[in-house]
Amino acid sequence: MSMSEHIRHLNEKRSFLTNGGGAERNEKQHKKGKLTARERIAYLLDKDSFSELQPFAKSRMPGCQNAPGDGVITGYGTIDGRPVYLFAHDFTVLGGTLGETHAEKIAAVMDLAAKNKTPIIGLNDSGGARIQEGVVSLNGYGHIFRRNVLYSGVIPQISVILGPCAGGAVYSPALTDFVIMAENTSHMFITGPKVIEQVTGEQIDAESLGGAGIHNVISGNAHYSARTEKEALSAVKTLLSYLPHGRQTASPVKKEDARPLLNTLVPADSSKPYDMLQVIKELADDGTFFDIQPYFAKNIAVGFLKIGRRTVGVIANQPKHLAGSLTIDAADKASRFIRFCDAFHIPPLTIADVPGFLPGLQQEHAGIIRHGAKLLYAFAEAAVPKVTLIIRKAYGGAYVAMNSKGLGADLVFAWPNAEIAVMGAEGASSILYRRDIQASDDPEKTKREKKAIYEKENAGPYKAAACGMVDDIIRPEDSRKKLIQAFDMLAHKEEERPKKKHGNIPL
Ligand code: HXC
Repeated sequence: MSMSEHIRHLNEKRSFLTNGGGAERNEKQHKKGKLTARERIAYLLDKDSFSELQPFAKSRMPGCQNAPGDGVITGYGTIDGRPVYLFAHDFTVLGGTLGETHAEKIAAVMDLAAKNKTPIIGLNDSGGARIQEGVVSLNGYGHIFRRNVLYSGVIPQISVILGPCAGGAVYSPALTDFVIMAENTSHMFITGPKVIEQVTGEQIDAESLGGAGIHNVISGNAHYSARTEKEALSAVKTLLSYLPHGRQTASPVKKEDARPLLNTLVPADSSKPYDMLQVIKELADDGTFFDIQPYFAKNIAVGFLKIGRRTVGVIANQPKHLAGSLTIDAADKASRFIRFCDAFHIPPLTIADVPGFLPGLQQEHAGIIRHGAKLLYAFAEAAVPKVTLIIRKAYGGAYVAMNSKGLGADLVFAWPNAEIAVMGAEGASSILYRRDIQASDDPEKTKREKKAIYEKENAGPYKAAACGMVDDIIRPEDSRKKLIQAFDMLAHKEEERPKKKHGNIPL
């Protein structure tokens, strides 16, 4: 054959492969409101940047050998000029199911991503384990899960769920750092509606069992809910824009970094709610905050913020929900996020306004001790620069847990209205002065007087500052300047940890 004939033959083969399951199945995919795997890749990556890997790989299983790419497209490209590796299940080919070759292709692209310290993105849309390939298919999942674990903390791993993701297959996304789901078209569950009905008699549809709403609001398995597939893919781009490439540099503090609005955003009455997100956004370079898991455990906000051009990971109590108290779900949400930040050299900024751990039987019996311990563990374990800003209440164990000095914060700032104490003035004075109040002719008046005395002597940030637990008391409007400087001055921090195989975080 001449070279031109070879090229023609190659082009024919490529054209067959890039057409996935064929026009009819592609159309079926569109009718479901879904894009094809190649359309997703084209939307996600920079124009013409995609290079496919192993497009000619074939199943060794008779009956599956004519399946383009064995139901998965793998490769690399760029997003806003930044390299990424990816795999995308092709639902039009054998339902995107995972067989031996399919698994080998995913494992290979994960290995390449890890060796090159480059993020990996998985676009999930699959019928799960390929029934025809049986245990070989299950073994393939084992290889992928093992890599999800080995590469955790080595490269950012992002899962986008754009179709079915059922059975044990859900555990690969569950092991990754971020799970983004498209509403109405994506589902995650261990056992589907039919099996549930057979076993327990419960009747439920796929969306109510494991749709984006469920996993973003109730279970906490997902981190972002997108109205459309394109929005889900755009969220990946935004998320990546916050993840630093190499060492971060900051811009010097400028005059306009003063933010007078911060002086008025937080109500003086410490029992009045307000929206912490407004405070966070006011600290940002551009007024934006990438809120992670915004619908789950709303009493704590976590996400990425650019401040002085540097990405920091924010962990902030949200007084709008449950008065910003710490709960089991809040501890789980925050500690996983802190560990991501630590692994990828993103310094955490903790903003505290916390009345305590949420009291109650439900929380105690469900294990607030064990779950709350995760938060302490994650903060204490993190070796990245850690800065805390106390903007109102910081009481008791929750004060300690929100990255206090004793737990290992490098720098702690407080606003002049901050109340740092074992508990609120009301509770503290009624315990300390119980006898005086009981003996008084006018207990209510005595109570008020004693509370005022307690507040004068104990509450406020000055006692904590006198003991070195607060490095400085600052005007709210200066917070942005102070934080930019603080992260700059901590940028070269090195902190030794005792040598060990690994710690044992309370799970
Ligand atoms: C082989 C499969 C398949 C599977 C779907 N297909 N699932 N082939 N193994 N697991 C094929 C279908 O036969 C069909 O082929 C094509 O994929 C598209 O499927 P449809 O059913 O036509 O599509 P749809 O109506 O959209 O339904 C999609 C679906 C459904 C909800 C995913 O197919 C389904 O329930 N499949 C079974 C899912 C499942 O139980 N998987 C095992 C999960 S357990 P044709 O040729 O007709 O187009 C698991 C274990 C992992 O994965 C273990 C890890 C440790």
